[in-house]
Amino acid sequence: MFYNCADHPDQFVYKLMTATITPRPIAWVTTRSADGVVNAAPYSFFNMMGHEPPTVALGLLRDPDKGLKDTAENISATGEFVVNLVARGMAEAMNVTAINAPRGVSEVDLAGLETAPSTLIAPPRLAEAPVSFECRLLSAVMTGPKQMIAIGRVVAIHIADRFMLDAGRGHVDTPALDLIARMHGSGWYKAGGAMFQMDRPVYAPERDG
Ligand SMILES: Cc1cc2nc3c(=O)[nH]c(=O)nc-3n(C[C@H](O)[C@H](O)[C@H](O)COP(=O)(O)O)c2cc1C
Repeated sequence: MFYNCADHPDQFVYKLMTATITPRPIAWVTTRSADGVVNAAPYSFFNMMGHEPPTVALGLLRDPDKGLKDTAENISATGEFVVNLVARGMAEAMNVTAINAPRGVSEVDLAGLETAPSTLIAPPRLAEAPVSFECRLLSAVMTGPKQMIAIGRVVAIHIADRFMLDAGRGHVDTPALDLIARMHGSGWYKAGGAMFQMDRPVYAPERDG
């Protein structure tokens, strides 16, 4: 099947992309409004974008009621956010924070979540998250009316001690994090699943050429 995106409504193209670009890691983003209200919401248009400097990106869609989502509004206003990763045991609380609450209502309170102070930035992290990245906004790219990509520089990383195999070497027990990922359609997620390992090839002229 071939689709020219120009011939189809945006919502149709959204379905094709979100049904195929899977699994997507989930950034459970905490921010603070200019008034100090702590906000939390999940974002699966998310990934690591580099390490020199360490960068992450978030795709923040237009909100039909509010225009910019609270997360986008707060990041634009304060330049700071925390990306918390979601373990399977936190999935339901994560889902609660996707509620379409009006601006000024803290989803952190609605979901009964505990926060812990960040070290270098003002928005707190989620205390139960296995991993949290403290981020400062490097660049906000408006990709459409009220649709924004936030590129953040990671300034600090928290990983719960129980997941460190060798803290000095930076070795993490990744499977033990038990992170969930977003799949297709409405409400499908991935947890666990098969893994396989492959060594990356190295070009050797005498052997390959
Ligand atoms: C698992 C999951 C992933 C989501 N990913 C995104 C995303 O990448 N971009 C987006 O704009 N909304 C995404 N949403 C919807 C937002 O979480 C939702 O609109 C939320 O109310 C935004 O909250 P805020 O206005 O407090 O930022 C996602 C929802 C869920 C449940």
